[in-house]
Amino acid sequence: MKVAAIVPAAGVGKRLKTKSFKAFVQLNGKPLLVQTLLNLKKAGHFSEIVIAAHPSKLKETRTLLDRHALKAVKIAAGGASRAESVFKALKVVSRHSDWILVHDAARPFVNRRLVMRLLKAVKKTGAALCALPAAATVKRVALKTQTVARTENRKTLYLAQTPQVFKKKLLLERYRALGNKAFLATDEAALFDGSKTRVKVVAGDARNLKITTPFDLRIADYYLKGGG
Ligand code: CTP
Ligand code: MG
Repeated sequence: MKVAAIVPAAGVGKRLKTKSFKAFVQLNGKPLLVQTLLNLKKAGHFSEIVIAAHPSKLKETRTLLDRHALKAVKIAAGGASRAESVFKALKVVSRHSDWILVHDAARPFVNRRLVMRLLKAVKKTGAALCALPAAATVKRVALKTQTVARTENRKTLYLAQTPQVFKKKLLLERYRALGNKAFLATDEAALFDGSKTRVKVVAGDARNLKITTPFDLRIADYYLKGGG
């Protein structure tokens, strides 16, 4: 099983409202992207790691990685959406890697248990993600009127996380089948909606949080300083 890891990191982090791009935001003395890559490296054995960086930050990203013992990490220029960034990174992956693990740069707390759980599960289906059962009651809302359209059945609702793992051949097939529509997907598992490939769901980790808002950064800092 030769697994290449792809880390989309080309977003600007609009919701984080910081001056620098999200990948470069400091978390416990290191940039978020570096924290994520160092933890990912510890979490599994990857044949290679390819990140998608913002096209205006390629040089800066290279310098940053070289400075943090991440010289072997390859960099692709990211695209206009997350899914396009992953697609562009896929083009850099060596033909010898036959599995792809995708992990958000915005999730610095990836760990070995999660990766192992996924790699075990994915062998049967060719696609797997980790997710947490929804804790809150989820409403579908009519956006124009800001009124409730319906209440979803919580039992069947899970919140998707990354990492997500796919057989490379299957993932490429989905990109090909969906064309430009693929670039609208907000995670790679969504590319398999309506296809004959089943995406296996394994237990996620509540600590594998995604840094999206300024509040998330504060929680992440708290964890890293030994809280929680
Ligand atoms: N991403 C990417 N290319 C894009 C957009 C997003 O590689 N064109 C990456 C981000 O860098 C991030 C992951 O996809 O690691 C998840 O995206 P998100 O959390 O939405 O990050 P941003 O898009 O940077 O944040 P925002 O939506 O608030 O601008
Ligand atoms: Mg985004």
